[in-house]
Amino acid sequence: MLNTRRCLHAIRAVAVAVGLLVGLFSTGAAAWGPQGHAIVANIAEAHLNKTARSNVKKLLERDGAAHLDEIASWADAIRDDHPNTAAWHYVDIPLSADGYDASRDCAKHRCLVVQLVRHLRVLDDDDATPAARTSALKFFVHLMGDLHQPLHAADNDDRGGNDTELTYFGQPSNLHRIWDSTIIERALDLHTGPRFQIDRQANRAAAKRLDQAVKPAAAKQWTQGTLPLQRRDAIVAWTNESHRLARAVAYGLLPEAPRPTDWSSQYQQKTKPYAEVQLQRGGRRLAAMLNAVLGPE
Ligand code: ADE
Ligand code: ZN
Ligand code: ZN
Repeated sequence: MLNTRRCLHAIRAVAVAVGLLVGLFSTGAAAWGPQGHAIVANIAEAHLNKTARSNVKKLLERDGAAHLDEIASWADAIRDDHPNTAAWHYVDIPLSADGYDASRDCAKHRCLVVQLVRHLRVLDDDDATPAARTSALKFFVHLMGDLHQPLHAADNDDRGGNDTELTYFGQPSNLHRIWDSTIIERALDLHTGPRFQIDRQANRAAAKRLDQAVKPAAAKQWTQGTLPLQRRDAIVAWTNESHRLARAVAYGLLPEAPRPTDWSSQYQQKTKPYAEVQLQRGGRRLAAMLNAVLGPE
């Protein structure tokens, strides 16, 4: 009797431990990690005009939020419960292709490009319900971040690098994951907790530092194409820019396996400026589109 109870205890303890381990090591999240999304959101928020800021505030209030960084990773959090949205976070453009081809890369409208355009339209539609527009805002903020992660716009028969396993600074990981999180966290000295908790103050400070380094002429060039008839083409151009970076930088600078043991620091040093510029572009472009639809001046 005593032994049976002890045995049950032991089984339960093992089950709990396995559950915890699965929770810790599951890689369900596939997007810029929470830090990348929060940085894009924080850069964008600093560039909203007065009208857009007030409209964003009203839409967020419905969700009990006050700032864009609070909702920037919501679309990842609901992914498991809404599996039909999983493919909205990326567009698998073959690495060797010239660029985005809707019929090849976006079957049944299940890809990042079409979903960005669709959510932007809902946000721009005065007849849409406030609930629909709040949801569209949350998706749009998140997906604009994903669009600027090069491996969300490319695929080398490895699910955008998810199946390309590697060891980065001594940790087992994969190419996709280091671009979602490790490269920018190391570059900006940000630390994410075991349940994806982030230090919002540290993230806001990092976003500010990054944003202040943007040259006005570059920002102007990055944010072309916000007029209604230009928006789809702009989103496609930004997708193709990400795809080119995936080829030239994310995969292009990766040494072939078996990789030398000390490859990480060189790769980190070479990729950091590209990862940073993608966060800057994502933030400025998100603001430009939100100003165009929510803050006509
Ligand atoms: N799953 C399949 N392809 C992917 C990609 N490019 N990015 C993230 N998740 C994916
Ligand atoms: Zn995502
Ligand atoms: Zn990802």
